[in-house]
Amino acid sequence: MKLILILLVTAVLGYAPQEVKCPSTNLIRSGEDISENEKNWIDNRRKKTTAALSEYIKNVGLDDDAVDLVENSSINIGIALSGGGYRSMLVGVGQLAALDNRTEVTEGSSLGGIMQSANYISGLSGGSYLIGSLSLNNWPSVHQSVLENDLWNLTEANQLVNTNGLWTVIWPVLTDNLWEALSHINHWVTGKDTGIKYDLQAKKDAGFPVTLTDAWGRDLSYQLFSEENNAEDLNFSDIRDQPAFKNYDMPFPFITAIGREPGTIVYNTNSTVFEMNPFEMGSSDPSLNSFTDIKYLGSRLSNGTNNGTCVAGFENAGFMVGTSSSLFNEYLDTLVCDDCNSLNFAVKWVLKKFLTYLSNTGQDVAQYPNTFKNNSFGTSRKLATNDTLYLLDGGLAGEVIPITPMMTTQRKLDAVFALDNSQNWPDGSSLITSYERQFTEQGKNMVIPYVPDQKTFLHQNLTAKPTFFGCSAKNLTDLVKDDVVPPLVIYLPNRPYTFWTNISLYQFSFTNEEKKAIIQNGFETVSRLNGTIDEDWPTCVGCAVIRREQERQGIEQSEQCKKCFEDYCWDGTIYESDEPYYPPLNFTDSGLTNDSVTYEGFSNVTASSSSLFSFF
Ligand SMILES: *[C@@H]1O[C@H](CO)[C@@H](O)[C@H](O)[C@H]1NC(C)=O
Ligand SMILES: *[C@@H]1O[C@H](CO)[C@@H](O)[C@H](O)[C@H]1NC(C)=O
Ligand SMILES: *[C@@H]1O[C@H](CO)[C@@H](O)[C@H](O)[C@H]1NC(C)=O
Ligand SMILES: *[C@@H]1O[C@H](CO)[C@@H](O)[C@H](O)[C@H]1NC(C)=O
Ligand SMILES: *[C@@H]1O[C@H](CO)[C@@H](O)[C@H](O)[C@H]1NC(C)=O
Ligand SMILES: *[C@@H]1O[C@H](CO)[C@@H](O)[C@H](O)[C@H]1NC(C)=O
Ligand SMILES: *[C@@H]1O[C@H](CO)[C@@H](O)[C@H](O)[C@H]1NC(C)=O
Ligand SMILES: *[C@@H]1O[C@H](CO)[C@@H](O)[C@H](O)[C@H]1NC(C)=O
Ligand SMILES: *[C@@H]1O[C@H](CO)[C@@H](O)[C@H](O)[C@H]1NC(C)=O
Ligand SMILES: *[C@@H]1O[C@H](CO)[C@@H](O)[C@H](O)[C@H]1NC(C)=O
Ligand SMILES: *[C@@H]1O[C@H](CO)[C@@H](O)[C@H](O)[C@H]1NC(C)=O
Ligand SMILES: *[C@@H]1O[C@H](CO)[C@@H](O)[C@H](O)[C@H]1NC(C)=O
Repeated sequence: MKLILILLVTAVLGYAPQEVKCPSTNLIRSGEDISENEKNWIDNRRKKTTAALSEYIKNVGLDDDAVDLVENSSINIGIALSGGGYRSMLVGVGQLAALDNRTEVTEGSSLGGIMQSANYISGLSGGSYLIGSLSLNNWPSVHQSVLENDLWNLTEANQLVNTNGLWTVIWPVLTDNLWEALSHINHWVTGKDTGIKYDLQAKKDAGFPVTLTDAWGRDLSYQLFSEENNAEDLNFSDIRDQPAFKNYDMPFPFITAIGREPGTIVYNTNSTVFEMNPFEMGSSDPSLNSFTDIKYLGSRLSNGTNNGTCVAGFENAGFMVGTSSSLFNEYLDTLVCDDCNSLNFAVKWVLKKFLTYLSNTGQDVAQYPNTFKNNSFGTSRKLATNDTLYLLDGGLAGEVIPITPMMTTQRKLDAVFALDNSQNWPDGSSLITSYERQFTEQGKNMVIPYVPDQKTFLHQNLTAKPTFFGCSAKNLTDLVKDDVVPPLVIYLPNRPYTFWTNISLYQFSFTNEEKKAIIQNGFETVSRLNGTIDEDWPTCVGCAVIRREQERQGIEQSEQCKKCFEDYCWDGTIYESDEPYYPPLNFTDSGLTNDSVTYEGFSNVTASSSSLFSFF
């Protein structure tokens, strides 16, 4: 009997959201502070991060005073992974491996343990693939995920779109028939009544809007999650049940998306930055300033009150990650430019027409029933009165590293690792956009240290190696809000050491060899070539993460840390000359040059000989 019931229930569940009885708890709260759930979770996580950080501080050879300092305080560390398609997922997991003490490295030359010391981790777009995938797979190490379980099969045979006979897509595209055009994605029909087509139909039949994001999110699920039924009923809130989350053995994860002002197709730094975390969805930006229990996302509430019937299962994990990476309108922008890609003129015209149609009908963004309707917490009338939330890729407003909801007066971080895999090679623009947003009304909760302009980033090699920003709290007094000093930012840009990881946003398939080589290079960007470029680097990172606590307690930095800060802190100088920037041709371990490369370490290592995977 029980078995039959379970079978019945399983059959009923699926991609379509279901109606459920509303909980008696309040479903909407003001975004003034972090949730009670998050507070309690972080309190428990802190016990682990404090122990892990003191271990790290000991391992990297900082003095006993530093160890004492860490043991008797609670230093709050965050890690933010930028967008950038599969590039940022793969480079990102290599970078994370460098911060993870489960990765094998030479004794004493690693940043392993930093991830274990972090309270928060965020990702958007390609970074959200990574955070979503790891969070819902019980936070495996890179070896476990990529090698042992072969998560992320990105080979040609397993890519998202079936390119065989793609020409047949032209007719549906010409006639603006999204549904027909979608039939070319893989897994569209996998059997009788199964496949993405039927998932989308079921959601539509249940009365929910279905857009390109739904198809995209379902397709991604086949690559990112190892669940049965290809994760059709895997929810984002299921992270709560993962042992690693329950036992506080992973950082608190969240992913972001931006909300478009209804009635417009504009997105910029005024757009609302939403976050999805295991407990909630919402925003602390003034425009919305509210959060809802993510389990009941999609319920139609009015000013927080419900009619007894709520919705569950709207927060499908693939759909959340798909929302964070809905950048179909970016394709449109790209297609607008006449010589920026190799597409044939006719194809471009056809695609542009189609994407414009999708954009005008709101089918290129994710549509959520507005659970926040009619509440009075936020300042945007348009958000509060529309029936629908229009959400899209978190990076589209220029903040490609998801630090906006992280570096807030509510979360009070001390140090944030900003892993930048944006653009083909990063140019600092993401940090600059976030820095500027803190001075706008929408950024009024944000605290971000000074960063220079883009010209300085490039000319001073600040994207060529790790750079620290906000090294001295004394210099940040003008940026303090509610007594919260901006965290110190440890900026870690993508760079070629052992592989050319300036992968195009539009590359969708990778051989296993390529995949491993990209991951390995990600590891090298953060580990400074596995500790070979600067053996003091792990110590210097230790100096950076304890800095704010030292400043709070009025403790002088050690000579060792002062030296580190000379090596890695941006010193505040600005590149004044009007010389245009010509990207030089050769990469060195500290910058770019037109001279012959003197640095011996760089070579075009083939994937199979890279050391992260060599012992397999
Ligand atoms: C990694 O760090 C965690 C937390 O501090 C610790 O429990 C674990 O033993 C460490 N693992 C290794 C392989 O060092
Ligand atoms: C730090 O805490 C330990 C016990 O946890 C204590 O022995 C030590 O004196 C404390 N140090 C400082 C500087 O407070
Ligand atoms: C990846 O998926 C394809 C198609 O499903 C399959 O043929 C291939 O064996 C898979 N690769 C690995 C390494 O599992
Ligand atoms: C909600 O936004 C949509 C799309 O921008 C717009 O067409 C519609 O008129 C808005 N509805 C209301 C009630 O403002
Ligand atoms: C953001 O909104 C403010 C106030 O409405 C406006 O002055 C500003 O121009 C907007 N910024 C952008 C980039 O649209
Ligand atoms: C009650 O709310 C549910 C879910 O939000 C919605 O589907 C339903 O139409 C509402 N019922 C009434 C009578 O308004
Ligand atoms: C929403 O409810 C609160 C009290 O719970 C009330 O103060 C506020 O005016 C209501 N807002 C609207 C738009 O009805
Ligand atoms: C120090 O503060 C000034 C503004 O008071 C700022 O222009 C400068 O960039 C800051 N220096 C650093 C290194 O952050
Ligand atoms: C940037 O790096 C290049 C090559 O390593 C070097 O020649 C140049 O001096 C560096 N510029 C600065 C400002 O450090
Ligand atoms: C560096 O660039 C120059 C051209 O400016 C080129 O002639 C040289 O081969 C390059 N060196 C290496 C090692 O790639
Ligand atoms: C390495 O390979 C890249 C891409 O194939 C090529 O552009 C570059 O010139 C090579 N560099 C060296 C140093 O051989
Ligand atoms: C780092 O270097 C050590 C010693 O050469 C090697 O054993 C280890 O596998 C390397 N780690 C990675 C992740 O490449």
